[in-house]
Amino acid sequence: MKSTLLFLQLALGVASLASDLPVFSRYSRRQDVPTFDWDSIAPSTTLNWITCYSEATQCTRLSVPVNYSDPSAGDATIALVRIPSPLGLAGSPSYRGPVLINPGGPGGSGVEYVLSPIGSDIASVIGEEFDLVGFDPRGVANSTPRILSIFNNDVERVEFGLGYDDWNMEVSSLPTLPGRWARMQVFGRLAQGRDNGFLSHVTTDNVARDMMSIVSAHGREKLQYWGFSYGTVLGATFATLFPDNIERAILDGVLDLDGYYATEWINNIVDADKALQTFFAGCAAAGPDSCAFHSPQPSAIKQRLDALYKRVLRQPAPAYSPSFPQYGVLDYALLKSTIFIALYAPYQTFPTLAQALKLLEDGDASLLYQLAIPRGGETPAAVECADGKPVSDSPATLAEYAKQASLKSSFGSQAASVRLLCSGWKIHPNSFKGPITANTSHPLLIIGNTADPITPLAAAKQAVKAFPGSVLLTQDTPGHTSVAAPSECTYRHVRNYFLNGTLPIAGTICNVTTPLFPPRSTNGNDSTSVAIEYVKRGMFIV
Ligand SMILES: *[C@@H]1O[C@H](CO)[C@@H](O)[C@H](O)[C@H]1NC(C)=O
Ligand SMILES: *[C@@H]1O[C@H](CO)[C@@H](O)[C@H](O)[C@H]1NC(C)=O
Ligand SMILES: *[C@@H]1O[C@H](CO)[C@@H](O)[C@H](O)[C@H]1NC(C)=O
Ligand SMILES: *[C@@H]1O[C@H](CO)[C@@H](O)[C@H](O)[C@H]1NC(C)=O
Ligand SMILES: *[C@@H]1O[C@H](CO)[C@@H](O)[C@H](O)[C@H]1NC(C)=O
Repeated sequence: MKSTLLFLQLALGVASLASDLPVFSRYSRRQDVPTFDWDSIAPSTTLNWITCYSEATQCTRLSVPVNYSDPSAGDATIALVRIPSPLGLAGSPSYRGPVLINPGGPGGSGVEYVLSPIGSDIASVIGEEFDLVGFDPRGVANSTPRILSIFNNDVERVEFGLGYDDWNMEVSSLPTLPGRWARMQVFGRLAQGRDNGFLSHVTTDNVARDMMSIVSAHGREKLQYWGFSYGTVLGATFATLFPDNIERAILDGVLDLDGYYATEWINNIVDADKALQTFFAGCAAAGPDSCAFHSPQPSAIKQRLDALYKRVLRQPAPAYSPSFPQYGVLDYALLKSTIFIALYAPYQTFPTLAQALKLLEDGDASLLYQLAIPRGGETPAAVECADGKPVSDSPATLAEYAKQASLKSSFGSQAASVRLLCSGWKIHPNSFKGPITANTSHPLLIIGNTADPITPLAAAKQAVKAFPGSVLLTQDTPGHTSVAAPSECTYRHVRNYFLNGTLPIAGTICNVTTPLFPPRSTNGNDSTSVAIEYVKRGMFIV
């Protein structure tokens, strides 16, 4: 479940809240982030910010105890980056301190998130009174030690194939499940065998303790936070462990929180078909010029997609074109998971998805293949399999699980896959397992979209019950987390919450007027490269 992600331009400074919102086609390819040598910063228990990556950002490394109950277990190092508040730099009394973010995952890099185009957009939304602070959770990316050391190198990782194939829990693929299950048992033993003791410490409760350390190192008592996707598990866990240390916390795109700690993922995909329905409806309404997969009726578009599914199930499609870097075989499971991923970011991907489906219909799978990404991976596994209740599914119980999931949604396999990934995991520390609930020192702001493929509105409503006083803000859009769609209304509420502490009136719904299928003039081949880039750069939950 890696999360969220968005590398779209929100195109929205607070100053320009009233102007036209997003211009996705304006988003040009993300410039590659310059590199930075993190080893050049000595880890410390105080925050010594130095300029890094660009003049606009600063980095530091914080030492934290590997085990908060056992100093002899040594230290881990957390990598942090911030876009500093101009008011803070100027020593203004209006400075309001750091807002921490987590982009999801587990395993998403907060550092990369802040450095991406979305980082400066989020900084604009929260406002100049605040520093925007991203951190790589323990074990992730630039924080050390690293979970990624389960495999010795990328070649080993790719050869083992953790990714595309291990994510396949389609009912049609169940005959080959025993072999994939066996590979997951190897994976679990490999992780255990190569672990030097660190993997039992990467659980979310410890990441929450690290956030408390980051807050304390700023000389503050209370957290200000915006968490997306898995970042809602992290924020809710923090709120449960440290209820008196909440100044502001936004949970945006809420996972089934109790389900997370029970290694139970099926409830997360209950709105996925609704998100797909917005593709059918949006395409039908947009007309053939804006949507390449157009038919006059949404139901007719669905039928054409179903026919494609059937065709690829019978005969996987070769995918190669000299125009594109990725090539391979598009089979049924990959087609399914590629469409699922596109639902995370409808405003970036739908026109290109429509083009790709039309090409596939005409016998060319190459564009669709560019939108595919590997799923799973050792970092999410190490966190979510250890956080969750131990599962020891056999191929038979997994198959049954996959069938149950498929009854909940046509994308049921995408949730059932987490059980496959965790089926061989052996590292189960005695860590926090819930329940998630607390009376917090300031009420939480909970944000949910009406058609989010992986964090359904029902889970957001559940979170409101778990935290008395919290308020749900509903954003009436498809896509994963509020940043999937540009909503001036949502950003105004976020800004008000951080600055004034005020919550929306219960029942508030924010609309978005941007069309899912913009007119062709803004939807040329530029939007294709935006969509591909977006998907590649995204870090996805589940
Ligand atoms: C952390 O230290 C405490 C106290 O020594 C110990 O009981 C606990 O098992 C340790 N946690 C892990 C995950 O090793
Ligand atoms: C929150 O406060 C209410 C009312 O005082 C109380 O009934 C409830 O048990 C508290 N919940 C937690 C988790 O402390
Ligand atoms: C915050 O409160 C002030 C004073 O009540 C109000 O004028 C303002 O609109 C509120 N919101 C923001 C974003 O400043
Ligand atoms: C949002 O859209 C709905 C349905 O189109 C409409 O009833 C409602 O008034 C809109 N809300 C706002 C705040 O514009
Ligand atoms: C994109 O547009 C350019 C010029 O308009 C054209 O040369 C190129 O072939 C197009 N690429 C694709 C993938 O359609």
